[in-house]
Amino acid sequence: MSTQNKHVIIVAGAGPAGMAVAASLAKAGHEIIILNRDIKFGGLAEYGIFPAKLKLRGGLKKQYWELLEKPNVHYFGNVSIGNGKDLSVEDVRTLGASAVVFSIGAQGTKAIGVEGDSAKGVFHAKDVVYHFNRLPGFGDRPFEVGKHVAVIGAGDVMVDIAHWLVRFKKVERVTAIVRRGPAERKYNPKEIRAVCANMDVEGIASEVARIKDRLAAVGQNADEIHKGLTDEFTKCEPKVSDTKMGFKFLASPKRILVDGNNQVRGLEMEDNKLEPKGEDTAAVGLKQFYEFPCDSVVFAVGDKVDETVGLPYKSGMFVTNPNKTGNDPDDALFQAYDETAGKVMEGVFLAGWARKASEGLVGIAKRDGDWCAEIVGKYLATKTPRLSDTKAVLGKLSSILSSRKSHPVDVKGLRILESSEKAHWSEEDCIGEFKYTKNQEMIELIERSKA
Ligand SMILES: Cc1cc2nc3c(=O)[nH]c(=O)nc-3n(C[C@H](O)[C@H](O)[C@H](O)COP(=O)(O)OP(=O)(O)OC[C@H]3O[C@@H](n4cnc5c(N)ncnc54)[C@H](O)[C@@H]3O)c2cc1C
Ligand SMILES: NC(=O)c1ccc[n+]([C@@H]2O[C@H](COP(=O)([O-])OP(=O)(O)OC[C@H]3O[C@@H](n4cnc5c(N)ncnc54)[C@H](OP(=O)(O)O)[C@@H]3O)[C@@H](O)[C@H]2O)c1
Repeated sequence: MSTQNKHVIIVAGAGPAGMAVAASLAKAGHEIIILNRDIKFGGLAEYGIFPAKLKLRGGLKKQYWELLEKPNVHYFGNVSIGNGKDLSVEDVRTLGASAVVFSIGAQGTKAIGVEGDSAKGVFHAKDVVYHFNRLPGFGDRPFEVGKHVAVIGAGDVMVDIAHWLVRFKKVERVTAIVRRGPAERKYNPKEIRAVCANMDVEGIASEVARIKDRLAAVGQNADEIHKGLTDEFTKCEPKVSDTKMGFKFLASPKRILVDGNNQVRGLEMEDNKLEPKGEDTAAVGLKQFYEFPCDSVVFAVGDKVDETVGLPYKSGMFVTNPNKTGNDPDDALFQAYDETAGKVMEGVFLAGWARKASEGLVGIAKRDGDWCAEIVGKYLATKTPRLSDTKAVLGKLSSILSSRKSHPVDVKGLRILESSEKAHWSEEDCIGEFKYTKNQEMIELIERSKA
């Protein structure tokens, strides 16, 4: 690419989506500046995906290192974007880059409106996942779960939480609380192998029998559904605890019940029935309530984006251009949109879970990043570079960060960190490799080594 067509592009967020955008645009010859909240790159590939998935995580890490070592890619870890953070959205937009892609994931917490959800012993899955993956700020915070844990939801995140509870915390009982029935479970059958050796198969048989009339009312055969559910309990990973895992179906938590210390003692649950909704079903409350005893509750019901970042936000999502172009992929779906001004935010794009919260696997986020890069590429082709001098953008960025006493971490810093963590691997905790859990500790280590 001739220097005249070379643009500077800022990618905010170094998860699978942002790294895909960066890889594609770097390959096209542009200069890429990556700004990432976490010191380390990878997003949920580093701090979400279950630690035992070494092959998947290792493969992604290798790809990301290759990208970061390219001369036209500039990494700034430990840089948060948002009001009152290292940089505001406006700061990022006015650094002089031709385009900015926000691929900052879905960092907001989805609340489902259950009374008492601030009680002790109530957790959100993302925080628990960040805890066992050792994200700074979560890694060394205690997550006391007691003996019986209710996990709300029936997706892959519920299974990951159960995995941690069954194989590492070794609690007495885990119950997945599912608002619809067994046929509407969302988890991938392969994922259940991590916990299926601990299934309370008798309890599950009586639970399905308990709801059989309500399944029959929407044409579902309880015996067939029970067989489908339990046939997936094959190739189970060897049992390592006496935890019993079960399900409560057609059940919606309505209230967290607490003791005198505001500690969870149970859930007030409403029985549901199913109603057809197009090809699918919906859960409808029956106004019949009962108490379900448990010591803690984990909400694994999906996430939303972080509305405090300063991007236009509505109903759990950042707003994208409603005026579809009909192109495939459609440019509008990736363009940030200011509803108050009634126009597209010039040069601002969204990708991955920042565009569609909690949707799909790493491969989907990567594809989203590839599509976004294609659309950014089309946009750049219509522009003359605003500031082809990468040094000027980097200089402005560094001067803002230093005036705000921020501590960005570059690729050299990441290398120092990686080799130090590798040297500590014999000190791994119960869940996998050794990781530093404090930003300060990591920054001091990097600064000492660089001095
Ligand atoms: C618990 C869990 C387990 C999963 N397990 C698997 C699995 O086994 N296999 C699989 O294929 N998929 C799995 N997924 C899905 C996969 O992790 C996601 O599809 C993918 O990570 C989404 O990528 P993303 O880049 O959009 O967002 P993220 O991965 O969330 O990356 C967002 C990045 O943005 C940065 N960021 C956030 N806020 C800011 C800010 N304000 N300023 C600057 N930077 C910011 C973060 O530091 C992070 O690096 C899992 C998801 C979860 C929640
Ligand atoms: N190992 C892996 O491969 C892995 C691990 C983790 C995550 N992921 C991926 O990450 C994405 C997100 O996963 P996820 O588990 O967070 O989301 P998910 O798959 O959408 O599952 C969310 C669950 O929460 C339930 N739920 C939502 N709102 C609720 C409410 N108000 N009350 C009660 N229950 C509610 C849903 O029930 P309804 O069906 O009734 O809406 C569903 O069972 C998925 O694409 C998943 O595959 C993959």
